[in-house]
Amino acid sequence: MLAFLLAPSLLSALITCTAAAAVCKPNKDTCKLDGLSIEGLPSTLPVPTLPLSYVAAAIGVQNYTCSAAGNYSSIGAVAELYDISCLGGSKLFTTIQDRLMGLWEDAPNGLTAQKLVSSYTQTKANTVLGDHYFVPNPSGKGGLSPKWDFTSTGSTKRNKNAFVIVEKVGGATAPTGKQDVDWLATKSVSGGLAGLVYRTDTRQGQPPASCVPGQSPNIQVKYASKYWFFGGSVHHK
Ligand SMILES: *[C@@H]1O[C@H](CO)[C@@H](O)[C@H](O)[C@H]1NC(C)=O
Ligand SMILES: *[C@@H]1O[C@H](CO)[C@@H](O)[C@H](O)[C@H]1NC(C)=O
Repeated sequence: MLAFLLAPSLLSALITCTAAAAVCKPNKDTCKLDGLSIEGLPSTLPVPTLPLSYVAAAIGVQNYTCSAAGNYSSIGAVAELYDISCLGGSKLFTTIQDRLMGLWEDAPNGLTAQKLVSSYTQTKANTVLGDHYFVPNPSGKGGLSPKWDFTSTGSTKRNKNAFVIVEKVGGATAPTGKQDVDWLATKSVSGGLAGLVYRTDTRQGQPPASCVPGQSPNIQVKYASKYWFFGGSVHHK
């Protein structure tokens, strides 16, 4: 019900895409990744050396726990990704993370990113690319590793290789300020979805500055961003 009520606002946020022309249908030949590249990459992050395979917008949460030092430390994230390759060259491509963050911030408590995204995708098939979440480090060293999983939807559905688990290569304070989670460069340690994954254009997602050890519960902080996938053996159709 809530998802249904939200659908019009989400649709209006993305309507430019429909109005722009038939080019706004993911998984069609008219959607091109050519000419798309990360704008404003901080000089402390390595320039990606592989061809672009996917570009996504995401909304989700960053999870934190209160450390003994009295500040929050990251314990993972969950997000829903969808294809924005068809917005390439449009103004909406540049601002999509702001539009999404606005909708996500205004969404009622209990409405998941998945429901918010599906309220839009009900009317436009094949837009969702997949999910981002954390899994045990595949090396067995302990801890959690970021994973992007495109195996359950769209043209990569049931492709067992359409995932990537990564390790961090570099991070940089968001050019938009410290209220936004860092931009990241990561590289694949498992899976065929990509050789490199970058997080850019972040909005929000940072924890409060301090917490009370032993008292403050774990928290989830909403965020939006873009994710860029380079290389890999699973390609955008
Ligand atoms: C938390 O505080 C400790 C001690 O001051 C510091 O070393 C650490 O970097 C802080 N962690 C975060 C996530 O800010
Ligand atoms: C992060 O929080 C979400 C929402 O509560 C939860 O579904 C997910 O399992 C958490 N993930 C991690 C790695 O803590």
